[in-house]
Amino acid sequence: MTVPDIIIAVDGYSSTGKSTLAKMIASRFSLLYLDSGALYRGVTLFARENGLIDKDSNIDLPALEKALEILDLHFVQTTEGSLTHIGRRCVEKEIRSLEVANQVSPISAVPFVRAFVDNKLHEAGAAGRVVMDGRDIGTTVFPNAGLKIFMTASVEVRTQRRFDEMVAKGGNPDFEEVKKNLLDRDWIDSHRETSPLSRADDAFILDNSEMTLGEELAWVEGIIRGRFGILE
Ligand code: DC
Repeated sequence: MTVPDIIIAVDGYSSTGKSTLAKMIASRFSLLYLDSGALYRGVTLFARENGLIDKDSNIDLPALEKALEILDLHFVQTTEGSLTHIGRRCVEKEIRSLEVANQVSPISAVPFVRAFVDNKLHEAGAAGRVVMDGRDIGTTVFPNAGLKIFMTASVEVRTQRRFDEMVAKGGNPDFEEVKKNLLDRDWIDSHRETSPLSRADDAFILDNSEMTLGEELAWVEGIIRGRFGILE
């Protein structure tokens, strides 16, 4: 099945499997996959490493704003997918740590940080044929996206997924701590002033609490067929 030159926006709560689905869609339809959360995580890592955010998440806003003017945060496309870099350094592993996860929501609530990331996403997605996941892709970044999906799943299922992911990476997470991090992020993400997490009116809702990956992909294919009148 061939899809038109569209942007597909996959938004939703933390650990609902947005990136897994978005990557599957990208591979199934030969689209470029871009992870907008990775850019917020990249800014957070940078702020942590340069003393621009303290352990209580107080941010040195003037210094961060100045630093973003020259921060070279970008994706490098490789056979393993799109990898986040700061300058020539690949930071893909560091941006997935619990320390970064715990501070990314306050950083991503800062309006000039959102403008910085939106700018990068617009550049990367300008040519279309992109599937992008995040919190506000269908509402703010690409409100004219050709297809919008909003993902949700139960808190228990989401915590278990995130927990398993961290164990698989060699971590030793505490289930309740992982759950608290998810709930805190949900709250901050949905209550911030600048482009909070919310479903676009024209987004299709996907609750995958009880679905396999194969079922999710079949669901997306069905939506795409219906939406674009594809008969094959
Ligand atoms: O998808 P993720 O967990 O990697 O995202 C990390 C954080 O970035 C998340 O807590 C909220 C923020 N984010 C955002 O505010 N807007 C986006 N489009 C993507 C992520």
